[in-house]
Amino acid sequence: MLKDKVAVITGAGQGIGRAIALQFARQGARVAVCDLNSDNAAAVAREITDTGAEAIAVKVDVTNEEQVLEMVAECMLHFSRIDILVNNAGIIQTGPFLKISAEAWDKVMAVNLRGVFSCCKAVFPVMQRQNGGRIINIASIAGKRGGGILGNSCYAASKGGVIAFTKGIAREGGPYNINVNAITPGYTDTEMTSSLTLKQRDAVLQMVPLGRAGKPEDVAAAACYLASDYAAFITGEIMDVDGGLMMD
Ligand SMILES: NC(=O)c1ccc[n+]([C@@H]2O[C@H](COP(=O)([O-])OP(=O)(O)OC[C@H]3O[C@@H](n4cnc5c(N)ncnc54)[C@H](O)[C@@H]3O)[C@@H](O)[C@H]2O)c1
Repeated sequence: MLKDKVAVITGAGQGIGRAIALQFARQGARVAVCDLNSDNAAAVAREITDTGAEAIAVKVDVTNEEQVLEMVAECMLHFSRIDILVNNAGIIQTGPFLKISAEAWDKVMAVNLRGVFSCCKAVFPVMQRQNGGRIINIASIAGKRGGGILGNSCYAASKGGVIAFTKGIAREGGPYNINVNAITPGYTDTEMTSSLTLKQRDAVLQMVPLGRAGKPEDVAAAACYLASDYAAFITGEIMDVDGGLMMD
């Protein structure tokens, strides 16, 4: 499905990003596993290369514009092109907004929203030169609902920003054959959601028509589709991967 495509995936050291990296590699992509946690990034890259596929690990803090530019330079040095960018790195912030400090607000926005902006800004010119590319932003249903049990209004605001930004640059990417889409996962079992009590988890799952939690692989499958030729005419789309939770 993604034979010889070069994919840059942020936050790929664990959870959803790791599942996307492994799935892309299985589909024939050459993958840059990028994460703040360099040990995890290296471990995922090794998992991929052990299967005979191609991967490199890149340490990056997406809140640092210089490091983002270095990440792109390293990927270009190694692969000479970038076909797919998956902006997946993210952090959660829970609790009522009255208890959230301005510093905590800034941190969430810096990772979840400005990080997406910086990575898109660094990769977009490469894709413009290639006259093509795919950008997939991992937002959240919290960005549509305004939070809830999965995160507070602050996390939701960052993800709502990602949704709006996705549509905005989808328009700018059109003339260059750059498709930009977002995935809005529902509750997915990863380290990010591991702090929820079983009771909270059950309460969420009761609202899910398919009656189960998402797996990182569910999100990876959607990302794979959006990165593939099958999704050539899809741009500016915000795709729920949530077991039906958000259906009208
Ligand atoms: N798990 C869910 O239920 C859920 C639901 C909706 C959306 N999401 C979104 O999916 C994405 C992945 O979440 P996950 O559940 O796999 O979380 P996770 O915490 O398991 O993984 C997040 C990864 O991002 C990396 N990261 C964090 N800050 C970074 C930074 N500044 N620079 C580079 N890398 C950084 C971490 O090191 C980690 O490897 C996030 O954007 C999250 O908001 C998750």
